[in-house]
Amino acid sequence: MQVYETPGAVRRASEGWRAEGLSVGLVPTMGALHEGHLSLVERAAAGCDRVVASVFVNPTQFGAGEDFERYPRDLKRDAGMLSAAGCDALFAPDVGAMYGAGGTDLLSGERTFVEVGRLGEVFEGAARPGHFRGVATVVAMLLLAARPHRAYFGEKDYQQLLVLKKMVRELHFGVEVVGCPIVREPDGLALSSRNAYLSSEEREAATALFRALETGRSLYRDGVRKTEEIEAAMMEVLRAGSLVRPDYAAVVDAESLAPLERLGESEARALVAATVGRTRLIDNAAL
Ligand code: PAJ
Repeated sequence: MQVYETPGAVRRASEGWRAEGLSVGLVPTMGALHEGHLSLVERAAAGCDRVVASVFVNPTQFGAGEDFERYPRDLKRDAGMLSAAGCDALFAPDVGAMYGAGGTDLLSGERTFVEVGRLGEVFEGAARPGHFRGVATVVAMLLLAARPHRAYFGEKDYQQLLVLKKMVRELHFGVEVVGCPIVREPDGLALSSRNAYLSSEEREAATALFRALETGRSLYRDGVRKTEEIEAAMMEVLRAGSLVRPDYAAVVDAESLAPLERLGESEARALVAATVGRTRLIDNAAL
C-alpha cells in the first residue's frame, strides 16, 4: 500500500489509474479505525479497481471545546488495518498539507468554505455549529485530491451522508456517493472511534441509544404512526440511564430530515443523540 501525504501526490496516483481505465473508490476517515471503517473499505474494494482511504483529523469540523486535540491518533495501526483490508493507497496529509502552512486561524473568515444550507443547521448542525461546513469543505478537498469515481460513507453519520450527497449533487462533483450500513457491537452499540472515551459504566449506559431506536422500531411495527408518541417513548429510554444526558430523539423524513406528524407517507428515519459521561454519541435507524 502506497502512502501519500499531499493532495498533489494522491491526485497523480489516481489520475494514473484513471488513465489506465481503472475505477477508483475513496473512503474518507479520521483514523482510529474500527470494523465500521473497514466495512467501507471492503465495500469499496468490491466495487472499484483501486481503493484510496484517507486518514485526516479535520480541525475545521471540530468546535471550540470539542475533542480535536485528544481525538485518538495512531497512523501506524490504521495503515496496517487498511492494508490488510485491501486498500491500495493511504492519503494521510497533515494539517499544513491540507490547509496551508501557517494558516493559524482556520475559522478567521479568510478561507474558502463550502456552505451546506439548512440541512446542515438542524440536529448535529444545531448542536455543533459550523460542523457540517467543516465536513463538506474537507470532503470537497478530499474528492478533488483523490479524484474517485465513488466515495463511501457510513449511515452511522446519517445527516453527514445526506449533507455530502447534497453537496456532490449540487456542485456537480460527478462522484457517486455510496451509503453503507451501520456496524454494531453485539449489544447494539454502533462502533465509533469515540467509544474509546467511555469508562466501563458509561460503555454499559451507552446502549441506551440503540435501545431507544429499537423501542421506536417496535412501536412502529405495532402500528403506532404518530411520531410524537414514538419520539416520547425513545426519549424515555434515553432518560432512564443516570449517566446519559439526552440531546434529541426524533423521527423525521429520511431525505430532508423535516419533521413528520405521521408515519406512512414517506420514508422515515429515527435519529438519537446523547452525551454519555462526557462523550457525545449519535445513532439512527430506518423505521
Ligand atoms: P469518521 O468518524 O472517522 O468516519 C469515517 C466514515 O466511517 C464515515 O463515513 C462514518 O459514517 C463511517 N463509520 C463510522 N462508524 C461506522 C459504523 N459503526 N458503521 C458504519 N460506518 C461507520 O465521518 C468522519 O470520519 C469525518 O466526518 C469525515 C467524513 C472523514 C470528514 O472529515
